[in-house]
Amino acid sequence: MKLLEKMHKIFCSFLSIFFRSRTIRHILKLSGHDKKEFLIKIIDENLKQIKTEPQEYFAQKSSSLKFVQSYNQLPCTVDTRKKRADLFERNGFRDKEILLLGDDDLVSVELASRNFKYITVLDCDMALLHKLKILTQDAKYPITFFHADLYQGLPNFLSHNYDVVCFDPPQNYEDLRIFMNCALKSLKYYNSTFYMMVNTSGLGKLNAENLVSQLQINGYTNTQKLDFFNCYPLNRGQSLLLKLISFFINPNSIKNRSLDYKYYFTDCLEFKSNSYAQSKEQVYEEKQIIAPVGGHFTLNEIPIAFFKQYGSHSKKTIN
Ligand SMILES: C[S@@+](CC[C@H](N)C(=O)[O-])C[C@H]1O[C@@H](n2cnc3c(N)ncnc32)[C@H](O)[C@@H]1O
Repeated sequence: MKLLEKMHKIFCSFLSIFFRSRTIRHILKLSGHDKKEFLIKIIDENLKQIKTEPQEYFAQKSSSLKFVQSYNQLPCTVDTRKKRADLFERNGFRDKEILLLGDDDLVSVELASRNFKYITVLDCDMALLHKLKILTQDAKYPITFFHADLYQGLPNFLSHNYDVVCFDPPQNYEDLRIFMNCALKSLKYYNSTFYMMVNTSGLGKLNAENLVSQLQINGYTNTQKLDFFNCYPLNRGQSLLLKLISFFINPNSIKNRSLDYKYYFTDCLEFKSNSYAQSKEQVYEEKQIIAPVGGHFTLNEIPIAFFKQYGSHSKKTIN
């Protein structure tokens, strides 16, 4: 048994040489048990997906966007992007200050088309920001764009400015915490909500628990978990890798050898500041309406470089 585990470890370390994405490297590094749990869920979800309507693929060609693996970009399907915008609409965020920490998923384009009023996008990828700017140029309410590297921290002037923050971080604990800390810094003290897109089983049980307790200390409660909410088409190499390790982890999957695992999935975790959770309860009890607060941030909409050239973090190692 031990020999098998050792072989599995060596095999995965070897495989990780071929992948630049920190998410994939992290998954390859998971312990045998965590990896098995993670893969079984992903495979099951892929099988369900195959049985139902095919997801609408991301229109990569038509928008001529190139996705940068070293920035961990893995855009979601159009369907997922719409679901995120639906979620924001259902929650009445149309007039709220919304910050998207990274937007290779093009959620800003969807929100702009639905006339959301106060959208800000921050990303380290200047080319992506320029494309987003072009794609949203006809928006009724212009989007604000910032170019910054979150590994250098959130620019101070963005502190406590937003009602809603959404981020889809690289799927490993260290990177996720960097995004999460920036999100916490950017949120208003009261009545704020954030959405973290993360594959909780891929994080490892202990890390997921640590994360929730750290957020509780910071005054945020996990109010919702939408399992497998986000779907991301994999490229051929990633899909092949998933198939390969699934044979290793679960020899029964040989039965499904003719199937291609085309998608990766993450959950959507909603967190609300405790004051928000409390005031919502009051609203529910007393049937009151809370008026929207705050004005939009009116800085230049052209991407601005606040920090050194992006890239310093990509040299960091994952524990
Ligand atoms: C982290 S990627 C998506 C990760 C993906 N869902 C996965 O599973 O690995 C989301 C967005 O964050 C941006 N991003 C990555 N690193 C960043 C950084 N250091 N600062 C700001 N944005 C960053 C990317 O350009 C991309 O648009």
